[in-house]
Amino acid sequence: MSMGTELGNLLDWVEGIRRRVRELAKEWEDQEGNLIMILHAIQNEFGYIPRGVASELSKELGISMARIYEVITFYHYFRLTPPGRHTIQVCMGTACYLKGAMDLQNELERQLKATGGRDGEFHLESVRCIGCCGMAPAVVVDGETHGRLCPNDMAGILKEKRGK
Ligand code: FES
Repeated sequence: MSMGTELGNLLDWVEGIRRRVRELAKEWEDQEGNLIMILHAIQNEFGYIPRGVASELSKELGISMARIYEVITFYHYFRLTPPGRHTIQVCMGTACYLKGAMDLQNELERQLKATGGRDGEFHLESVRCIGCCGMAPAVVVDGETHGRLCPNDMAGILKEKRGK
Protein backbone atom coordinates (compact mmCIF):
# COMPACT_ATOMS: atom_id res chain seq x y z
CA MET A 1 0.00 0.00 0.00
CA SER A 2 1.46 3.40 -0.96
CA MET A 3 2.03 6.26 1.49
CA GLY A 4 -0.62 8.26 -0.34
CA THR A 5 -3.21 5.48 0.06
CA GLU A 6 -2.39 5.03 3.75
CA LEU A 7 -2.69 8.75 4.36
CA GLY A 8 -5.95 8.81 2.41
CA ASN A 9 -7.32 5.95 4.54
CA LEU A 10 -6.24 7.73 7.72
CA LEU A 11 -7.93 10.96 6.64
CA ASP A 12 -11.12 9.03 5.77
CA TRP A 13 -11.00 7.43 9.20
CA VAL A 14 -10.57 10.80 10.93
CA GLU A 15 -13.42 12.27 8.88
CA GLY A 16 -15.57 9.26 9.79
CA ILE A 17 -14.89 9.89 13.48
CA ARG A 18 -15.76 13.58 13.13
CA ARG A 19 -19.00 12.69 11.40
CA ARG A 20 -19.89 10.13 14.08
CA VAL A 21 -19.14 12.56 16.93
CA ARG A 22 -21.31 15.18 15.21
CA GLU A 23 -24.15 12.65 14.87
CA LEU A 24 -23.90 11.66 18.53
CA ALA A 25 -23.78 15.29 19.67
CA LYS A 26 -26.90 16.00 17.59
CA GLU A 27 -28.69 12.91 18.87
CA TRP A 28 -28.16 13.87 22.53
CA GLU A 29 -28.46 17.63 22.03
CA ASP A 30 -30.36 19.45 24.80
CA GLN A 31 -30.66 16.30 26.86
CA GLU A 32 -29.61 16.20 30.45
CA GLY A 33 -26.40 14.26 31.01
CA ASN A 34 -25.68 14.28 27.29
CA LEU A 35 -21.90 14.18 27.76
CA ILE A 36 -22.15 10.94 29.72
CA MET A 37 -24.55 9.39 27.22
CA ILE A 38 -22.25 10.32 24.33
CA LEU A 39 -19.25 8.88 26.18
CA HIS A 40 -21.20 5.65 26.69
CA ALA A 41 -21.98 5.50 22.97
CA ILE A 42 -18.31 6.14 22.10
CA GLN A 43 -17.12 3.41 24.44
CA ASN A 44 -19.70 0.99 23.05
CA GLU A 45 -18.35 1.61 19.57
CA PHE A 46 -14.61 1.71 20.22
CA GLY A 47 -14.32 -0.35 23.41
CA TYR A 48 -12.70 2.67 25.13
CA ILE A 49 -12.53 6.46 24.77
CA PRO A 50 -9.74 7.25 22.28
CA ARG A 51 -8.02 10.60 22.90
CA GLY A 52 -8.67 11.80 19.34
CA VAL A 53 -12.39 11.12 19.70
CA ALA A 54 -12.50 12.94 23.05
CA SER A 55 -10.78 15.88 21.36
CA GLU A 56 -13.39 15.97 18.56
CA LEU A 57 -16.12 15.79 21.17
CA SER A 58 -14.57 18.69 23.07
CA LYS A 59 -14.66 20.84 19.90
CA GLU A 60 -18.14 19.74 18.92
CA LEU A 61 -19.74 20.36 22.33
CA GLY A 62 -17.57 23.33 23.30
CA ILE A 63 -16.56 21.55 26.53
CA SER A 64 -12.92 21.59 27.66
CA MET A 65 -10.84 18.41 27.46
CA ALA A 66 -10.17 18.82 31.19
CA ARG A 67 -13.90 18.57 31.90
CA ILE A 68 -14.29 15.55 29.61
CA TYR A 69 -11.40 13.76 31.35
CA GLU A 70 -12.83 14.67 34.72
CA VAL A 71 -16.03 12.82 33.81
CA ILE A 72 -14.19 9.87 32.25
CA THR A 73 -11.98 9.34 35.29
CA PHE A 74 -14.82 9.86 37.78
CA TYR A 75 -16.83 6.92 36.41
CA HIS A 76 -14.82 3.71 36.65
CA TYR A 77 -16.85 2.28 33.79
CA PHE A 78 -15.00 4.37 31.19
CA ARG A 79 -11.70 3.13 29.79
CA LEU A 80 -8.89 5.25 28.40
CA THR A 81 -7.01 2.35 26.84
CA PRO A 82 -8.21 -0.33 24.41
CA PRO A 83 -9.51 -3.42 26.16
CA GLY A 84 -7.53 -6.64 25.72
CA ARG A 85 -8.85 -9.39 23.49
CA HIS A 86 -9.78 -11.34 26.61
CA THR A 87 -11.42 -9.97 29.73
CA ILE A 88 -10.71 -11.45 33.14
CA GLN A 89 -12.94 -10.25 35.96
CA VAL A 90 -11.87 -11.12 39.47
CA CYS A 91 -14.77 -11.09 41.89
CA MET A 92 -13.97 -8.96 44.93
CA GLY A 93 -17.32 -9.49 46.65
CA THR A 94 -17.14 -10.39 50.35
CA ALA A 95 -17.22 -14.20 49.97
CA CYS A 96 -14.56 -14.21 47.26
CA TYR A 97 -12.46 -11.64 49.05
CA LEU A 98 -12.47 -13.70 52.25
CA LYS A 99 -11.54 -16.83 50.31
CA GLY A 100 -8.49 -15.32 48.63
CA ALA A 101 -9.61 -13.24 45.62
CA MET A 102 -6.76 -10.84 46.30
CA ASP A 103 -4.24 -13.69 45.92
CA LEU A 104 -5.80 -14.57 42.55
CA GLN A 105 -5.61 -10.96 41.43
CA ASN A 106 -1.98 -10.63 42.56
CA GLU A 107 -1.02 -13.81 40.76
CA LEU A 108 -2.75 -12.69 37.56
CA GLU A 109 -1.01 -9.33 37.70
CA ARG A 110 2.30 -11.05 38.32
CA GLN A 111 1.73 -13.33 35.32
CA LEU A 112 0.60 -10.53 33.06
CA LYS A 113 3.57 -8.46 34.20
CA ALA A 114 1.76 -5.21 33.55
CA THR A 115 0.85 -2.35 35.75
CA GLY A 116 -2.87 -2.39 36.24
CA GLY A 117 -3.05 -5.86 34.74
CA ARG A 118 -3.26 -4.89 31.06
CA ASP A 119 -0.87 -6.47 28.59
CA GLY A 120 -2.79 -5.83 25.39
CA GLU A 121 -4.12 -9.38 25.14
CA PHE A 122 -5.84 -9.46 28.52
CA HIS A 123 -7.90 -6.90 30.31
CA LEU A 124 -7.97 -7.54 34.03
CA GLU A 125 -10.55 -5.94 36.26
CA SER A 126 -12.12 -6.32 39.69
CA VAL A 127 -15.87 -6.63 39.97
CA ARG A 128 -18.43 -6.80 42.74
CA CYS A 129 -20.25 -10.05 43.65
CA ILE A 130 -21.14 -11.97 40.49
CA GLY A 131 -23.74 -14.09 42.26
CA CYS A 132 -21.78 -17.35 42.51
CA CYS A 133 -20.66 -17.06 46.14
CA GLY A 134 -20.87 -20.84 46.57
CA MET A 135 -17.98 -21.08 44.08
CA ALA A 136 -15.80 -18.48 45.83
CA PRO A 137 -13.24 -17.35 44.97
CA ALA A 138 -14.41 -16.92 41.40
CA VAL A 139 -13.25 -15.23 38.22
CA VAL A 140 -15.09 -14.70 34.95
CA VAL A 141 -13.05 -15.19 31.80
CA ASP A 142 -14.71 -13.91 28.61
CA GLY A 143 -18.10 -14.43 30.24
CA GLU A 144 -17.36 -17.94 31.57
CA THR A 145 -17.28 -18.37 35.35
CA HIS A 146 -14.51 -20.39 37.02
CA GLY A 147 -14.79 -21.09 40.74
CA ARG A 148 -13.04 -22.50 43.79
CA LEU A 149 -9.74 -21.31 42.42
CA CYS A 150 -6.29 -20.96 43.90
CA PRO A 151 -3.41 -18.84 42.60
CA ASN A 152 -1.82 -21.91 40.97
CA ASP A 153 -4.84 -22.18 38.64
CA MET A 154 -4.16 -18.76 37.07
CA ALA A 155 -1.36 -19.88 34.75
CA GLY A 156 -3.64 -22.54 33.23
CA ILE A 157 -6.45 -20.05 32.67
CA LEU A 158 -4.12 -17.62 30.88
CA LYS A 159 -2.48 -20.42 28.88
CA GLU A 160 -5.82 -21.70 27.66
CA LYS A 161 -6.79 -18.25 26.38
CA ARG A 162 -3.48 -17.09 24.92
CA GLY A 163 -3.42 -17.16 21.17
CA LYS A 164 -7.16 -17.90 20.92
S1 FES B 1 -18.69 -12.67 46.38
FE1 FES B 1 -17.83 -13.53 44.61
S2 FES B 1 -19.51 -14.48 43.71
FE2 FES B 1 -20.37 -13.50 45.41
